[in-house]
Amino acid sequence: MASNKITLASMLFLTILAYSNAKLGHLKETKLTVYFQDYSGDQNTSVIGIPVSSNGALNFSKFGAMFCTDDPITAGFEEGSAVIARGRGVHVTSALDGSSTHVMVSIVFIDGKYKGSSIEIYGSDMQFEKVREVAVVGGTGKFRLARGYSTFESLYSDPVRAHTIIQFNATILHY
Ligand SMILES: *[C@@H]1O[C@H](CO)[C@@H](O)[C@H](O)[C@H]1NC(C)=O
Ligand SMILES: *[C@@H]1O[C@H](CO)[C@@H](O)[C@H](O)[C@H]1NC(C)=O
Ligand SMILES: *[C@@H]1O[C@H](CO)[C@@H](O)[C@H](O)[C@H]1NC(C)=O
Repeated sequence: MASNKITLASMLFLTILAYSNAKLGHLKETKLTVYFQDYSGDQNTSVIGIPVSSNGALNFSKFGAMFCTDDPITAGFEEGSAVIARGRGVHVTSALDGSSTHVMVSIVFIDGKYKGSSIEIYGSDMQFEKVREVAVVGGTGKFRLARGYSTFESLYSDPVRAHTIIQFNATILHY
């Protein structure tokens, strides 16, 4: 009797293993490079302070400052390049000395081959470094169960229009 029970239990276990393998399949790797067109002034505004400051001036190095963002994300560097996603979320200046911002942003694809899918970018961003690495912690659609890493690098900045172009690279493992 005892050995029958063990066999039954191990068969169940094997069935569960086989089922989960069949369901998940193999991890794929996707690498992508896109460009956040970030506008923090009064033209094409895509980043605002929380609460919204009356004079519109944003101070990214003030501890506790919070921002809401909906940046257009383009396939190419140029401002007029096709918008394929939106960078939607919140970031909070979370280092006492203002050096780091906590990023909680979804890249929501609205066009191109990832349309309808999204990835989640989450973590500390050493905002004044040239290249900042932030984790990819999840995703939806084509990026279900995503994990990986990403880099932000500001390649261009126009202080008059408060427009910054940030190159975003990601290496993502997903099913
Ligand atoms: C920004 O706004 C200007 C008009 O003020 C418009 O010509 C331009 O296409 C806009 N850029 C983007 C990327 O939306
Ligand atoms: C931004 O905030 C920091 C920290 O409070 C302060 O030292 C700095 O003067 C502020 N900058 C501006 C332009 O207000
Ligand atoms: C991001 O990807 C681009 C295009 O492949 C590459 O030229 C650039 O060096 C990468 N940036 C970083 C920080 O790895």
